[in-house]
Amino acid sequence: MKVENTYLKKGVDKKKYDRVAEIYDLFEFPMEVLAFSEWRKMLFNKVSGKLILEVGIGTGKNIPYHNENFIGLDISRRMLERANERLKKTRKRAELIQGDVEFLPFKDNTFDAVVSTYVFCSVEDPIRGLKEVYRVLKPNGNAYFLEHMRCENEIGGKILDILNPVVSIFGPEINRRTVENIKKVGFKIVEERWLMTSIFRLIVATKCS
Ligand SMILES: C[S@@+](CC[C@H](N)C(=O)[O-])C[C@H]1O[C@@H](n2cnc3c(N)ncnc32)[C@H](O)[C@@H]1O
Repeated sequence: MKVENTYLKKGVDKKKYDRVAEIYDLFEFPMEVLAFSEWRKMLFNKVSGKLILEVGIGTGKNIPYHNENFIGLDISRRMLERANERLKKTRKRAELIQGDVEFLPFKDNTFDAVVSTYVFCSVEDPIRGLKEVYRVLKPNGNAYFLEHMRCENEIGGKILDILNPVVSIFGPEINRRTVENIKKVGFKIVEERWLMTSIFRLIVATKCS
């Protein structure tokens, strides 16, 4: 795969995830055991295509579910190092690239599918990132998401709005309207499944040709 020059936007806090890379898996362990690993399986059962891009691959928790070849991209070098350790324990041949989903270093219409799990709550400009995912997908290609977001329940949504300024200092934004954002950039939603209330959702979206 020919990768164009990678570009990392100035001022983005790449260190945010660098700082937590060592403890990330430990911190996520309870949710991983309770729900995430099951949801990852559910998502990857749907993923197909020869050339797959995973954006925000993090410590590589989806590596076991990928087929032989894929490309994993993340803005955080330390998270990628953990992903690389995980990759080495498998026989899979993947390329891991440091890059920003807001400026993907790939040509238009490159990938059969793009996967992202719990990423668009953290991307600084989610619309820009989603536009890039749309751009690099082949026409009729699917993007597969697991995301947490603002819930549909009015009171619950308002509570998330109130908590967001504090929570987002330490971690991701908790009140993004990710389904609306995915639609805004041109995707057609072909599946939306609420996994834990409307906060955690599995979404499959198509790039219409
Ligand atoms: C909550 S973690 C999820 C990691 C992994 N996808 C998982 O399911 O465990 C979010 C990841 O998105 C990455 N990320 C945040 N903003 C990004 C950006 N603009 N471009 C690429 N990766 C980004 C972070 O570095 C981090 O590894």
